[in-house]
Amino acid sequence: MQTDSKHTAQGLHYPVYFGKDIWCNLKNLLETEFSSSTIFILTDENVGHLCLPSFLDKVPALADSPLFSIPAGEKSKDISVAAKSWDWLANYHAERSDLLINLGGGMVSDLGGFVASAYKRGMPYINIPTSLTGQVDAAIGGKTGVNFSGYKNLLGVFSDPYAVFVNFIFLKTLPKRELYSGFSEIIKSSLIAGEDFWEEIKKGGLDAENGLNRQIIRAASLKISIVDKDSLDLHERKSLNFGHTIGHAFESISMETGQRPLLHGEAVAAGIICESYISHKLIGLSEDTLNDILHLLKRYFPPLKIDFYEDDFYRYLIQDKKSQNGVIRMSLLNAPGTVLVDQPASMEMITESIEYYKEMTSP
Ligand code: GLY
Repeated sequence: MQTDSKHTAQGLHYPVYFGKDIWCNLKNLLETEFSSSTIFILTDENVGHLCLPSFLDKVPALADSPLFSIPAGEKSKDISVAAKSWDWLANYHAERSDLLINLGGGMVSDLGGFVASAYKRGMPYINIPTSLTGQVDAAIGGKTGVNFSGYKNLLGVFSDPYAVFVNFIFLKTLPKRELYSGFSEIIKSSLIAGEDFWEEIKKGGLDAENGLNRQIIRAASLKISIVDKDSLDLHERKSLNFGHTIGHAFESISMETGQRPLLHGEAVAAGIICESYISHKLIGLSEDTLNDILHLLKRYFPPLKIDFYEDDFYRYLIQDKKSQNGVIRMSLLNAPGTVLVDQPASMEMITESIEYYKEMTSP
């Protein structure tokens, strides 16, 4: 990890730069390692409007780069959009020595990473996350892919970016709903880390004015250290999935049925409440911590409308990548700082946790 204050940490095999003045690092990398390559930029329509102009002002060498702007929103994380992106690259005769820059939130980096990894068996790509979710989670760690057949991230590969540039400046363009959505990943990280990080988040909440940059670096550093130990998600990395087994099922079902699909972090927030309840019931998370988690999340996230059938929910849960031999497994929290991975949970327990969620969040 590197920041503009020259902070460096051991971890991944690629650099992650943090700060407001990191464009010089990007320019340097482009000049030294991609001087004879074509640099392609993938973005979405919102980011293209809100962030791209200021980005090109700072990095004018990219002003004439081929640009592909896809519709914003999770619906674009789809194989048809990947296919259009491959068409775009092929029409420009992109070569394996060229570079793809993914400028956008988690949808753009997941999709763009997948596109780059499959194109001619792999061209390098750089992530420049513009959303809070992207900055603390999605852009780091090399998970790439698309949703398929209604299921989250069903197709994808592990493929590391060449570098990641986390510039806090982009967060100024984010609507509150998006900022809160990303904050649920910071809450998750603080629960995984425990100690003073959880205490800070529990007491101070989202500190958008003074502390958010520090909170981002803290959450991203935790992810970097975990991914460094288990990049292929076989053990430790599954802890980062706390809240996501049930969260992804909420998210998928809202995409299938909802007029206004949930943002990823909104679904994860509800997933954290349910999985904290299950943690309390199955592995001894204290009632006090369960209540602290519930009260913190209720400050930022309105209750979800839950009007689906158990069978439909089960269909999504069982597609989770942690499921094994038809048993739903999740990462549960014993206490802040201690996550147990691969914990089996019955459908009855999951249903009970959703009842708890409904009761505790009803106005
Ligand atoms: N978002 C969880 C992970 O990257 O493993």
